[in-house]
Parts: sequence; structure tokens; C-alpha cells
Amino acid sequence: MIYLGIETSCDETAAGVVRNGREVLSNVVSSQDGIHLPFGGVVPELASRQHAAVISQVVQSALSKAGVAIGDISAVAVTQSPGLVGALLVGISFGKALAYSHRIPLVGVNHLEGHIAGVYLEEGDPVFPAAVLVVSGGHTNLYHVSPESSPRLIGQTLDDAAGEAFDKGAKMLGLPFPGGPGIDRVAREGERERVHFPRPAMKGMGLNMSFSGLKTALRYYLDRTDFPFGMEAELPHIAAAYQEAIVDVLVGKSISAAEQIGAKSIWMTGGVAANSRLRQRMVQACGERDLILSIPRPGYCTDNGAMVAAAGFFSSPDSGILDLSLSPRTSPKAGRYKTTGISR
Ligand code: KG4
Ligand code: ZN
Repeated sequence: MIYLGIETSCDETAAGVVRNGREVLSNVVSSQDGIHLPFGGVVPELASRQHAAVISQVVQSALSKAGVAIGDISAVAVTQSPGLVGALLVGISFGKALAYSHRIPLVGVNHLEGHIAGVYLEEGDPVFPAAVLVVSGGHTNLYHVSPESSPRLIGQTLDDAAGEAFDKGAKMLGLPFPGGPGIDRVAREGERERVHFPRPAMKGMGLNMSFSGLKTALRYYLDRTDFPFGMEAELPHIAAAYQEAIVDVLVGKSISAAEQIGAKSIWMTGGVAANSRLRQRMVQACGERDLILSIPRPGYCTDNGAMVAAAGFFSSPDSGILDLSLSPRTSPKAGRYKTTGISR
């Protein structure tokens, strides 16, 4: 079974071709970072327009890189929710038109299930039960994933996503959008202990998280501190301390999740999983507890079409039907996805 996955939920126009939910034949991503950079965040209308401008090329390129024709595709999988409605509509409309004109089934995919399926693109045989941290610019969710049932949401941020905390923090520090990679880079030269930021919801709120207070703490710190030699000299220390607060919460909650569900492994995915300090700390924390850690390569962690193709295959391995009533959904809840299918 060869699935074509289409992803347009936020600011990446992406398409990927995957055989049997695991073997990536192609994975093409057109990033909009340059378009949103002057605004310091994703502008929904610009995102939709750019998706519309490049989607055809991106899908063509994914097919040709995979060495397949549209007639070889068993089903088209497209991100249906959650995401920016106008952005989702571009992918869904394109997927519908493509599927209809070639009489191919069309499968709607939950974006977060897509991120979870990204782990299967990397790991031939992931270990269950798993506590899965999906951490990106839009989401910070913890799932219990086992072969017997659909992924179960067991914790989430109650306000900003961790990626948003990185992006907004970076903006305050004068670093360009997207801010995560900038903070990661600058923080490498900094001393984490020079400044202290709160670890919101670290103790309490169960497995839920909160990052908006941290952002406010940085704002207050910058407003109330004198920098006699300019902020430049302090920037690495502030970035390192701010990053450490986010990382502490993500690692602490993931370990608590693993302990609560009796997990044998932790999987981490989403754009923030690229953070070098988070990876280092997660490796260390898992090593100390005999937990197996799976982190897909960066290209499968950030938004991509291959993960959507994989999730489409696992939710509808019989390739489903051509559902032309498909429309963007706003509920972020993972639903139909059966990991039982994945372990085949
Ligand atoms: O998964 P993704 O590509 O898109 C969605 O948001 O769905 O994640 C993008 C997020 C941005 O907030 C970006 O700042 C963050 O991932 N990010 C990082 C790093 N690389 C990307 N955050 C921290 N450190 C990084 N190295
Ligand atoms: Zn995402």
C-alpha cells in the first residue's frame, strides 16, 4: 500500500509518499519561515496563500522523488485537524480534487496522530507501552500509546505550547522567528544558573503544563533589570536559563507520565524535539530509569507529509473511501487511530 500524505496545517506545505506506513519513498517540505519572519509569528492569511501557491509543486515533487505515478497511490491522506482553518482547507481541497480526479480514496488525519506516527518512520519496532511527548509550536501534549488502543491524551499545556514559549521568548530577546533554534544556539554559550525563571506547574496540575507565566517572568526580568554593558553580553545566560526552565518542565512531566502509565519507553517528537538541551536531558533522564528513548530524525519531528501518510495508513490500512465531505475539524483530540494497526 502506497499512501500520499499532504500536510498544510500551519506554515509548512508538505507532501510525502510512504509504503506500508513505514518506508519513506519521499518527503518534501516547503517552509514558510521567510514569509512570517518579519512578523515574528505565523500570519494565517499569508500561510494559506503560500500553501495555495506551492501545493501543486510540492505534491508533484513528492511523487517524482518517490518514483511513483499518481496511479500507483493507494490512498491520499490529508491533515484534517487541528490547525489554521484556512491553511487546512488548502490541503484538504487539493487532496479532494486529486483523489476525485483519479478515483483514489481520501483519508482525513489528525495532525497529532501524524506526529506520533512519525516515530514509526524511524523505529522499525518501537517499544510499548510508551509515554509520547508531542512538542511543537502549536502543541505540547502527552499521550499513552499502547498496541491495544488509540493514543490516549494524558497531559497537555493549559495555555501556550512550549514552542510558542521559545518563539515569544526569542522575540523578547531580539532573536529572529522561529525562535527555538536561536535560543538553542545562543544558550550553548550561556550559564544556566545566572538567572532563575519559574518552573510553572512543575509540582501540581498532574501531567498538565503551563508556559505563559514563564514568558511573563522573562518580560518582567528584562523590564526590571539594568544591563550596564548592554543586553548582548547577558543574552546567552538569559537564553540558557529560560530554555532550562522549559526543558525542566518537559522532562519532568514526561518522566512522571512514564511512571504513571508504567511505560517502557518515551517517544518525543514535534519541532521542539530538535532542541539540543532537551535531547540531552531526556537521554540522561531515560538512561537513569532504564526507559528506552525514541526521537525521530528532525525531518520526521517537524511538520511533514510522510508522517501524515503513515498515520493515514495506520488509521485506514484498507485505504478507506473517497470521502468528499471531509472538512477541517477544530477538535485537537486524537480519535480513530489504532496503534494495533501500527504493530503489524
Ligand atoms: O512541529 P513544528 O515544525 O511546527 C508546529 O508548530 O507544528 O514546530 C515548530 C516549533 C517552533 O516553535 C520552533 O521554534 C520550535 O519548533 N523549534 C525549536 C527548535 N527547533 C524548532 N525549539 C527549540 N529548540 C530548537 N532547536
Ligand atoms: Zn506539528
